[in-house]
Amino acid sequence: HLEAHAPAGGFDFDGPLGNWDAAQLQRGYQVYKEVCSACHSLEYVAFRNLGELGYSEDQIKAEAASWQVPGINGDTGEDELRPATGTDYFPSPYPNDVAAAAANNNAIPPDLSLITKAREDGSNYVYSLLTGYDNPATYANEEGEAFAEMFPDSMPGTGLHFNPYFPNLNLAMAPPLTGAGQVTYADGTEATVSQMAKDVSAFLTWTAEPRLIERKQTGWWVIIFTLFATILAWFAKKQVWAGLK
Ligand code: HEM
Repeated sequence: HLEAHAPAGGFDFDGPLGNWDAAQLQRGYQVYKEVCSACHSLEYVAFRNLGELGYSEDQIKAEAASWQVPGINGDTGEDELRPATGTDYFPSPYPNDVAAAAANNNAIPPDLSLITKAREDGSNYVYSLLTGYDNPATYANEEGEAFAEMFPDSMPGTGLHFNPYFPNLNLAMAPPLTGAGQVTYADGTEATVSQMAKDVSAFLTWTAEPRLIERKQTGWWVIIFTLFATILAWFAKKQVWAGLK
């Protein structure tokens, strides 16, 4: 049973009538900020985009200012970090790929802006990945051959982590969500691992496809208009041919 299928997160944006849950997106942002941003950037998302999650101008300014982005010292001309503003994009925590790889067992944490689009069934994939870290010893193929024998490189001691949802089963990311209460949600929601995983997966769905809901709603208008146009055409045809019985 190594062909793992992602368990469905059960998201509010699923289905033709789905919609964002703004409170969930804000919680997901909090998880990204307090946990994931230690290693992953969001290079296609600007702080001002947070307005779409329901934050006010002032909140966005304050939020941006709590992040440091690369800048240049006006006096000396040297590189230095400065507080972000609304038009900046979420920065990488590492100065370059070499530093990123060095800090992560030779793997570079990918930018997460588009990850839910880059992977099949991406929202559920991210949710599964975060909640699915498992013990390779519990996995065997149909002949009962243990996972450890099939993939000898996957064993503990390699610095890799077994996860049946990751495409090559071994990832260099240690489980980032390790226990309930890792974040304290501003809205009082209980921060279980599953809740945090679901919220950050929803947030990363929004970063990858902020127009998802508009796209669905446009689809409905296209269908309604097409039906209307079809009915009109049918009556017009009857009218035109009425004399030729
Ligand atoms: C890979 C998400 C926290 C380091 C990944 C992938 C995802 C992800 C979805 C797999 C990308 C793919 O399919 O190729 C997250 C989320 C986090 C989080 C949502 C917060 C809840 C962290 C942290 C670190 C980290 C804190 C560093 C301590 C890595 C590394 C990889 C990775 C090194 C590459 C793994 C490999 O290619 O083997 N992350 N991550 N992540 N992440 Fe994270």
